[in-house]
Amino acid sequence: MVVNSLAERYRADFPILDQKVNGFPLVYLDNAASTQHPNCVIDEIARYYREDHANVHRGIHALSSRSTKLYEDARARAARFLGAASADSIIFTRGTTEGINLVATSWGTAHLGPGDVILITEMEHHANLIPWQIAARRTGASLQYLAVHGDEGTIDWSDLERLLSQNRVRLLAFTHISNSLGCINPVRAICATARRHGVTTLVDAAQSAGHAPINVQELDCDFLVFSGHKCCGPTGIGILYGNPAVLDDMQPYQFGGEMISRVTYESADWKPGPHRFEAGTPHIAGAIGLNVAMDYLETIGRPAIQANDHHLGEVAYERLSRLPGIRILGPRRERAGLISFQLGATHAHDLVAYADQFGIALRGGHHCNQPLMRKLGLQATARASFYFYNTESEIDRLVEVLEAAIKYFGA
Ligand code: ALA
Repeated sequence: MVVNSLAERYRADFPILDQKVNGFPLVYLDNAASTQHPNCVIDEIARYYREDHANVHRGIHALSSRSTKLYEDARARAARFLGAASADSIIFTRGTTEGINLVATSWGTAHLGPGDVILITEMEHHANLIPWQIAARRTGASLQYLAVHGDEGTIDWSDLERLLSQNRVRLLAFTHISNSLGCINPVRAICATARRHGVTTLVDAAQSAGHAPINVQELDCDFLVFSGHKCCGPTGIGILYGNPAVLDDMQPYQFGGEMISRVTYESADWKPGPHRFEAGTPHIAGAIGLNVAMDYLETIGRPAIQANDHHLGEVAYERLSRLPGIRILGPRRERAGLISFQLGATHAHDLVAYADQFGIALRGGHHCNQPLMRKLGLQATARASFYFYNTESEIDRLVEVLEAAIKYFGA
């Protein structure tokens, strides 16, 4: 049984968790927004700035060579983390949002036109929705949605076959784990169906890359994106994986230094591989910190993290579902380590502010899922999201504070 054993082993690596907030021990349950950093990541970023910093790919002096090596090591690490065949498939971005914007702009402009369909689901984060709205507007393609049913957030994936047969779908973009419902979509089967129809796929792995084993070759997806800060890495750094066959004929997204091979006053040629997608000085320290974060997660083991997440998600569902007047989104079983809920008539922001008084960090709001919230007849939910350093007793503490909130607000 994995219960709490990961927290017992690894929680001490996270100095930020050992503090009081408003006089109470911090209970950090906002990991779907951003996870915390272990000492090894913090230390490596500080060490890099103290000892090795210089710009990458530009100098032939010692510091530049060291920092270039560290940066490229991080790219190779990201390839292994995702099971990609080559580091050339890995593009550093600012995060999931930039990765999707890059694909929507660069791939979208070249491959979409009037009559084409971009297919996404109704549970997508705004980051995997708005770039496609814009791409559709620019190219004349249309945007269609796979429907989400009920509070459980079920998608009838058998619809996919029909939609792909009946429409000229060019791209299917979908989330692996929903940030507001906590459901887990069957990525491998979805990508296999898309592949049979010759449809390009993009997987939003923002909520899954640090929580579950991912192998892009086994998933057989064309693009996969995630953010460093949702898996113990720094903010401002993320990864876009691109299937080499698709990436090779993609044009750059931004233009400037370091992405070129030759420039004249009239024109420019691009570098091959991932470098032509990385204009300007990148977030070098971010990549280096992310490298250590990925190593750290692999030491723990993502299968163990995944099992722990499922356990905490189910425990939270069982204990919170006993509260009077609670409405919980997402499935009861086989859920990710996050739980979104509404408590009676109390606004989520009031609930989150109340919990904060007792040291509990939740997120309240539409979770960048406005259309989905509207469809479910909700303005906002409160959300508790877990990582391997959280414990069942923190869930009990949450329940205690929610019980007090019910009395306080008369919810
Ligand atoms: N996407 C992040 C969340 O769900 C910010 O909170």
